[in-house]
Amino acid sequence: MKIIGTGRAHPSKVVTNAMLEQFLDTNDEWIVSRTGMKERRVISSEKLEDMAADAARKAIEDAGLKPDDIDYIICSNVVNEYITPGLSCIIQGAIGAKCACVDVNAACSGFIYALDMADDRIRAGKAKHILVVAAEEPTRMVDWTDRSLCVLFGDGAGAVVVSYGEGMIASRLTTQSKTDCLYYVRKLEPTPYITKPEYGAPMYMNGREVFKTAVLSSSRDIKRLLDKAGLQPSDIKYYILHQANMRIIEAIANWLKLDMSYFPHNVDRCGNTSSASIPLLLDELAREGKLKKGDKILMSAFGAGFTTGACIFEWTK
Ligand code: UT7
Repeated sequence: MKIIGTGRAHPSKVVTNAMLEQFLDTNDEWIVSRTGMKERRVISSEKLEDMAADAARKAIEDAGLKPDDIDYIICSNVVNEYITPGLSCIIQGAIGAKCACVDVNAACSGFIYALDMADDRIRAGKAKHILVVAAEEPTRMVDWTDRSLCVLFGDGAGAVVVSYGEGMIASRLTTQSKTDCLYYVRKLEPTPYITKPEYGAPMYMNGREVFKTAVLSSSRDIKRLLDKAGLQPSDIKYYILHQANMRIIEAIANWLKLDMSYFPHNVDRCGNTSSASIPLLLDELAREGKLKKGDKILMSAFGAGFTTGACIFEWTK
């Protein structure tokens, strides 16, 4: 599988740390020193499905294809207004494609899981051109009076089109059921028969626990992948890591003994956009002309579940 097109869409509203100070007991110094975030893009009047379709159209155009050429759509998404139908079905209608569609929820690792599924489908000869979209609005999962969480997130949609080729070098997915340190619970409709207690709750995160697990698991995945591919850390042009916290990215850079030029980031401008963070950053690098044919890229993400996903691929465009 190789990536032949990328696209992205951001919400128009920029929320700076100073804007958060107006209604929360927080400050720019705390947010920047603990997370590296200066501002984030937050959904206001937009719909996530429109942003997802916008990112998808740009990726298809970048690939030099038409929506008709797409024969499978995979959308990574944790939350949007619809429980059903899947966001992938909505994207299909909006862009005018005519293929099978499916959604994946692997939290912040979802884009890598979706890419891995696309790779399998292409290797199996079941599809020629697959659209992979990651569209997320985590700002709708948090309690905006909880300063420990609402400052961390932003929204956005990133997309890629993949097709047959020699791009994917190695991938690794892991899941360890650990549901008590990061979750969001939605209350279902009542029925006349429900007797058990039920509740809904905004996102809960044990930040320190997630921080530790994220650094350890991402470092482990990166090492295993480099070993599998027979590569040294410096053979990779860019490490495109899940943009959850600048300190996590710096810890991984330190552990690999690499300087920060290997670690492009958008967390300072976009906040944590869940599974959209990697394709958003990938599109940014591609459109700025920073990716050259033959460059090796390593992507690594972690998220609720606890899931991790990582892959190495060669830029072939
Ligand atoms: O993509 C999903 C995966 N998520 C992540 O990767 C997030 C991983 N975790 C983190 O990034 C960090 O743990 C956080 C940024 C969430 C928190 O940083 P921390 O250094 O672990 O801080 P903490 O939670 O231990 O809180 C330290 C202090 C507390 O005050 P006390 O108890 O020491 O008096 C908090 O109440 O900072 C306080 N605090 C704040 N102060 C100002 C928490 N949030 C804020 C805030 N502004 N927004």
